Amino acid sequence: MIRRISTALLLSLLSGFIGLQSAAADQANLAAKGKQLVLVCSGCHNFAKGEPHKIGPTLWNVVNRQVGSSAGFEYSDAFKQFEGSWTPDNLKHYLASPATFIPNNHMAFSGISAEADRNAVVAYLQTLTADGPTVGASSSFDYGGLTEGAGREDVYSVCSRCHSIMLVKQQGMSRSRWTDMLVWMVEEQGMDELPADQHERIVDYLAKYYGG
Ligand code: HEC
Ligand code: HEC
Repeated sequence: MIRRISTALLLSLLSGFIGLQSAAADQANLAAKGKQLVLVCSGCHNFAKGEPHKIGPTLWNVVNRQVGSSAGFEYSDAFKQFEGSWTPDNLKHYLASPATFIPNNHMAFSGISAEADRNAVVAYLQTLTADGPTVGASSSFDYGGLTEGAGREDVYSVCSRCHSIMLVKQQGMSRSRWTDMLVWMVEEQGMDELPADQHERIVDYLAKYYGG
């Protein structure tokens, strides 16, 4: 009897917890996708704290910053005269069609046509602050709670595509069993074959932090 009550209690606590987790996880998933999409921007922009301007200004901390206000970058007149800040909404409009949103600006980029991709890029930009996402999830982006270490981003972006990262975190396996698990993901569960270097990073990470 006591056992049954405590199980019910545990389940109800757990379902509240999972609800919270999944809103944060959705935002984190979106940001992880955005992180891959911004490869197309990286010829012109840096994203990490302390990195210099390139052809375009650094995008660290860009969300909610006044348009054209990053110190040390020579902006176009169009940018200097534009009044407003980079709210998530403004960013989405700008990235849809830079030349339409701020005519005569100097960003030689035609835009991101798919709305889902724009949302993902902006979710990623929102993570680029010292204290985590500026809007949305209240906790900072933590890669689904994976332990910090080399390979964590790879594991997050590859393994959260089909299922919760929880499924990965709750395991403790040797390197060879993790390798088998990845083979099984590819052969039976439809995961794309990974590039050799990424496969190594992922197996190294899993064996080190989720070893058994
Ligand atoms: C060919 C180079 C180039 C590419 C590619 C490019 N940008 Fe830019 N970006 C610029 C330049 C140059 C500016 C400054 C524009 C101005 O001064 O008129 C800029 C400005 C910006 C700003 C405003 C920053 C501020 O400080 O006000 C944002 C946000 C931005 N880019 C995001 C992106 C994103 C996201 C991508 C990829 C999806 C991207 N850019 C791709 C060159 C580029
Ligand atoms: C293409 C989709 C897909 C991707 C990508 C994927 N998985 Fe899975 N994974 C599945 C499915 C489907 C199951 C559930 C299989 C079942 O219930 O029998 C699963 C189950 C698992 C399980 C639980 C196995 C068990 O015995 O209960 C682990 C651990 C796991 N995946 C690890 C990973 C890791 C690590 C990665 C990243 C390297 C990954 N998965 C990427 C589809 C995927």
